[in-house]
Amino acid sequence: MKLLGHQMLQDAELENLIVALGQRAQHFHQQVGNTQSPRAEHEESARSLESQIHRGRGRPLFYPYVGTGAGHGVYVELEDGSVKMDLINGIGIHILGHGHPALIAAALKGALADIVMQGNLQPNREYVEFTNKMVDLASRSSRLRHAWLATCGTMANENALKICRQKVTPARKIVAMKNAFAGRSTLMAEVTDNPAFKEGLPEYDEVLRLPFYDKRDPQSGKKALELMRSYVERHPKDICCFTFEPMQGEGGYKVAPREYFIPLLELCRREGIPVWADEVQTFCRTGRFFAYETLEIGEFVDVCTVAKTAQNGVTLYTEEFNPKPGLIAGTFSGSTVSLAAGLKVLNILDQENYMGPGGRIEKIHQGFIKMLNDLNQGSCKGLLQDAEGLGLMIAVTPFDGTKEKQLELLKALFKNGLMAFGCGRDPYRLRFLLPAVTTEQDIRRASEILEKSVLELL
Ligand SMILES: Cc1ncc(COP(=O)(O)O)c(C=O)c1O
Repeated sequence: MKLLGHQMLQDAELENLIVALGQRAQHFHQQVGNTQSPRAEHEESARSLESQIHRGRGRPLFYPYVGTGAGHGVYVELEDGSVKMDLINGIGIHILGHGHPALIAAALKGALADIVMQGNLQPNREYVEFTNKMVDLASRSSRLRHAWLATCGTMANENALKICRQKVTPARKIVAMKNAFAGRSTLMAEVTDNPAFKEGLPEYDEVLRLPFYDKRDPQSGKKALELMRSYVERHPKDICCFTFEPMQGEGGYKVAPREYFIPLLELCRREGIPVWADEVQTFCRTGRFFAYETLEIGEFVDVCTVAKTAQNGVTLYTEEFNPKPGLIAGTFSGSTVSLAAGLKVLNILDQENYMGPGGRIEKIHQGFIKMLNDLNQGSCKGLLQDAEGLGLMIAVTPFDGTKEKQLELLKALFKNGLMAFGCGRDPYRLRFLLPAVTTEQDIRRASEILEKSVLELL
């Protein structure tokens, strides 16, 4: 006899109900289209919700954003009745945009399970299937063979660091990049290279910094390598890992060529220094599942972390880096819904034409970069410079690259219907985490809003 849980998952009546629920929800989601100004009759209740958030957490929102739960593609409806173009996606969570029918169906199915949260002690089927998919994707072009789940990127990173340290115990020092971002825990704030994110925290003196590739300095790769060599000499057997974002996220959406990484990675290999790629932001976004595939450096990676798009945090590691029992654990591994939805996201990206040359991600990238460059050469001459990035991660330097102008433009964009976010310091950049469902029409609309907003600030 079929197990009850299996019967439930395959039950035609439930399937029909899920389809009907999904269709009914789409009736609302699909009405969200094109940008819309706030509506007077909703403004008071929206401001009340925002001030409740302010009171509850003790500080205001960056944007007056409280979503209603309705959205479609790049568009999202807010409580003040406005509709915004969401080109930041909760800082990289909603790669399939808002209101995606297949994702909602997967989430509905997940919500029927006997438990809401799954754990590392008592996993359900969704845990198995999601983990299998992660291992399958990771092992295609690297030596990574295991996946440990957590609930966010920071926790995935904490686990990564512990795994590296245990492997080369008692080595302590972490080699990380200038302008790195690694998350918000005490130790990840230490790895992060931004004083504003650790005001009042002591320095633990655990991190050695390397400069990231600088396209304006032809010597930047050489300088990084020399510094790495000097660290190896000065701290023999005391470097527990080299960690890097293959494309820097918070640091300014900086891209480095393969040739920059290879000598550093070869040195690590010779010296037995574990290599940990932080792909929390880059995962699924560079046009390949992993940026280490885009850069063709997968063979060097011992540990890799992802989150955001995966809807869960994951630490991936090779057979040799499988830690001893007891080192990594934790109550939660993710919710049943986040595991089911994460699997669906990965399957859609894997099976439909998103990845690789000629895939949708590459087309969106080219269209968006061209749009930014056209504005910079045309009506917004010189005011949107240096558009670059990989795949769905794109940044541009607005005006003179000062923080004041960046913030002014972000607020103007929001008012005019487009949500982006900042990254980098010196220059302060405007970043976009585009959903993989962005259409050519969406890019044209983004261009109109960008142009209007930039010209308003002149
Ligand atoms: C590269 C990188 N690492 C780690 C993190 C932390 O992830 P989370 O916010 O899910 O803890 C982030 C988040 O932005 C990130 O971009």
